Amino acid sequence: MGSLERLLSEELGALRDSGQYKQANELQAPQGPRTRMDGRDVICLSSNNYLGLANHPAVIEAGIAGVKRYGLGTASVRFICGTMTCHRDLERKICEFVGCPAATTYISCWDANVAIIPTLASTPEDAIFSDALNHASIIDAIRLSKARRFIYRHGDLDELARMLDSPDARSARNKLVITDGVFSMEGDVADLPRLKQLADRHDATLIVDESHATGVLGATGRGTAEHFGVLGEGTIQTSTLGKALGGACGGYVAGSQVVCDYLVQKSRPQLFSNALPPAVCTGSMAAIDVLMADGAALLSRLRANVSHFRRGVEELGLRTLPGITPIVPVIVGETATAIQMQRALFEQGVFVSGFGFPVVPRGEARLRCQISAAHTREDLEVALRALAVVAERFPAARET
Ligand SMILES: Cc1ncc(COP(=O)(O)O)c(C=O)c1O
Repeated sequence: MGSLERLLSEELGALRDSGQYKQANELQAPQGPRTRMDGRDVICLSSNNYLGLANHPAVIEAGIAGVKRYGLGTASVRFICGTMTCHRDLERKICEFVGCPAATTYISCWDANVAIIPTLASTPEDAIFSDALNHASIIDAIRLSKARRFIYRHGDLDELARMLDSPDARSARNKLVITDGVFSMEGDVADLPRLKQLADRHDATLIVDESHATGVLGATGRGTAEHFGVLGEGTIQTSTLGKALGGACGGYVAGSQVVCDYLVQKSRPQLFSNALPPAVCTGSMAAIDVLMADGAALLSRLRANVSHFRRGVEELGLRTLPGITPIVPVIVGETATAIQMQRALFEQGVFVSGFGFPVVPRGEARLRCQISAAHTREDLEVALRALAVVAERFPAARET
């Protein structure tokens, strides 16, 4: 074994010894509110399939039609010969859904973030302002930029205001304020109106990552801006097609024509990586169509399920964070506790993922429960009963 392998083996051993070694959880059935893992049927509380569209018949049919019409893939990046009619159709559909002049797609929202941030803020004369709990893709995107960095404490917009006011920030050329719309590990919602106000006051551009808000927040599922009644007020958004909108993969930037044109010319993940597979384009379009046609019913089921589950978690006395979104964390402290509780819940027929450092801050390991419109009341009741049984064995999960 070479010295690199020796070092890696030691680190892997340390993860195993401290109970932090992650095992991939293999699904033996489609993604759904109930699925099959390790030979048993389980209720799934760990999926981003918020509207149950990952396995929707119209989405599947549209995906199959996409493969039949265009083949499996583009065998090219967008600007050489990887742009097919389905990519243009999808981008028009995203514009119609989001209500913006232009959109451009990427192979993932990770790529959309890694595309937009270093491209719009590329030089040391630029400045980026980012919430400390923004998604890892935003953190890595910032690392790829040469801009000055200002990281404000999670949700602390007074600190952001002070940073924007500092002489170093005032002298910057392009200023980007970046936030998750819904924070992926906390489930809370960014204060978009105030962020927009601060950005406007300092001639900064606000970018909102709507990955956990698209199809979830707002009267018709258009996300954080719709939730706050500020839809169409000039923010740029990134989002994913890999969660509520069919759950396949793919991401997009939606905003002004000039920003999207610039990204198409300059952003490296689109210039140097294959375009979205056609089946993902056609399947995702079908998912957006379902949301635009049946959104009211889906969203009202999702919200009723979220309220029911949140109330149940509170009644069990578990440590959670208040909120309105389908991300319901149960904070348990140590990473090893989260992993042990995940195993104990699985024994009870419920799959819910435990997360520890570095995904969440040290000492704040948690079970992240995620609720879908596709869960039945019975699914949620079974899950709550399982949580009650397991919490008896792990007092760290209870409010003190
Ligand atoms: C807030 C946020 N942004 C971006 C991503 C990445 O999305 P994708 O899976 O499309 O790369 C995620 C996925 O977990 C996310 O939660």
